[in-house]
Amino acid sequence: MCGIIGINSSRPVSSTIISSLKKLEYRGYDSAGIATLSNNEINEVKSEGRVDNLENNLLVQKMEGTIGIGHVRWATHGLPNSINAHPHSSQNVSVVHNGIIENSTLLKKFLISKGHKFKSQTDTEVIVHLITENLKTENIVNSIKKTLKSLHGSFALGIIFKDQPDLIVGARRGSPLAVGYGPNENYLGSDSYALKAMTNKITYLNDGEFCIIKKDHVEFFNEDGDKINKKVLELSLEDEKYDKGDYKHFMAKEIEEQPTTLKNGINEYVDTLNNDINIYNFPWKTNEISSITLIGCGTAYHSCLLAKYWFEELTSLDVNVDIASEFRYRKNRFKKETLYIFVSQSGETADTYAALDLCNQNDMKTCAVVNVIESSIARDSKFVLPIHCGTEIGVASTKAFLGQILILYILALKLGSLRKDLKKELFNEKLKDLKSLPKLAEKTLLTDNKIQTISNTFNEAKGSMFLGRGFSFPIALEGALKLKELSYIHAEGYPAGEMKHGPLALIEEGMPVVVLAPRDNYYKKTISNMQEVIARGAKVLLVTNRSKDEVVSENIWEKIEVESANEDLLPFLLTIPLQKLAYYSALKKGFDIDKPRNLAKSVTVE
Ligand code: M6R
Repeated sequence: MCGIIGINSSRPVSSTIISSLKKLEYRGYDSAGIATLSNNEINEVKSEGRVDNLENNLLVQKMEGTIGIGHVRWATHGLPNSINAHPHSSQNVSVVHNGIIENSTLLKKFLISKGHKFKSQTDTEVIVHLITENLKTENIVNSIKKTLKSLHGSFALGIIFKDQPDLIVGARRGSPLAVGYGPNENYLGSDSYALKAMTNKITYLNDGEFCIIKKDHVEFFNEDGDKINKKVLELSLEDEKYDKGDYKHFMAKEIEEQPTTLKNGINEYVDTLNNDINIYNFPWKTNEISSITLIGCGTAYHSCLLAKYWFEELTSLDVNVDIASEFRYRKNRFKKETLYIFVSQSGETADTYAALDLCNQNDMKTCAVVNVIESSIARDSKFVLPIHCGTEIGVASTKAFLGQILILYILALKLGSLRKDLKKELFNEKLKDLKSLPKLAEKTLLTDNKIQTISNTFNEAKGSMFLGRGFSFPIALEGALKLKELSYIHAEGYPAGEMKHGPLALIEEGMPVVVLAPRDNYYKKTISNMQEVIARGAKVLLVTNRSKDEVVSENIWEKIEVESANEDLLPFLLTIPLQKLAYYSALKKGFDIDKPRNLAKSVTVE
């Protein structure tokens, strides 16, 4: 989704802004732009499509200036073209914006009545003209304060001014924004990752705050324009590798990294010496919690759905699951004894953050399961369980999903054992099995060639279905989501037992249907449902686990067997071939696997 960079330096900044924008490409976007100040003029270059296009334009139209802002845009208001790309500028002011201004239509009317002329279809342009208008009577701080008070909605802003050649303004409400500190230069970024190549010294703005960034110092203000002091955090300098290595795509690499994700998670939380799980500093006593509500979006929501089965199986807690965008607007009954768990790879998803914020406002127990530990969701939760899977670049979430479900499973085991819902022997046995999971995932990753051939049939089909029961139902949803987001094939995930209640009508001759039927408690029931779709002409791809007993059906089209494991762990293994199926379908179609159309890695608007 949209990303912001700002640099105030004494050296030319355009090429550094371009390389930082490239770091933000993983968020998903459709146009890019840059504005710098030189010779008392604002210069602006914008391009539709990739940052590479912008870079090529800069080869022709050289950009000078030691102070500048850059942006990658994911269209909300107005087409994804170069006119609507950011920055948006008046004669005096240039603005980059993440978020949505909800009262832009009203503000635009007012500004037009004052003689302002608009060039784009965006909501952002009203900010430019409001600041320009307010600057007629106010100084910088007051004009920013006044402008921010007029805006409804969410924003992270980077602003430069023709008549202020030594400063950049940053402001935040709802969308994340960070300030970075370098030697004789300072930065603004929509996440610390984009700034990482330049600095590890970061300050995060809180909602309502704004800042003035000069080369040698930064001043922070609250929403009333009063100066405030903020902490500088030193982020870890640990250098992660963000290159694709020998892989064609980040997604392929991230799928293969999953055994390491599992190993890291297990090493972090499992205490092998004492045969226990370490969750340090958990702030609540177990008798203070009687229910759990799990909240997320997309793949993270599927993690929550799966975790419900584990929490119900391993603990006596009541468990609810919610989609963040629904939760945040419902009339919720907040309960003191509920633990609210927010699951998010990025930790910046707007709806998940809003749901967390709502729980915090009601003084609830909030816990985040996140990958990005510097993220807003991690910072604002009362307790954080990091998933430690390293940066995930592919828009389609793969290793983060396995990381999330691992941590949720570990938490379910720990709470089950603390509450004495889970007998010590069973806990020990499950812990022992868990340690074998990375190896089993490694082996499951080897089922490659067959999936490549199978993906041809999916590519030729009008649509497909993914069916499962119990633990396999959320995995069916996840498999369908992966296929649709990468290969743009219509795919439905369904509880196998629901087919007769409507969706069976969709089955027609030759339709590919993935049936997830591991040898668990639901196996026989799922196999019956499988026969029902076969009888109606479906081409069934059965995904199960290796077993001595053959599945009896002559009419199965294809079969993939994952490694065998304790029932709780099968969802981890079943996920892998489904990720590969989606990957190979998209590969054969020649689609942009790491950046599927219309999607963004970090969904920072609701
Ligand atoms: O960063 P989050 O985990 O909060 O993101 C939530 C969803 O946007 C995300 O999982 C999305 O569904 C993925 N593209 C799915 O692959």
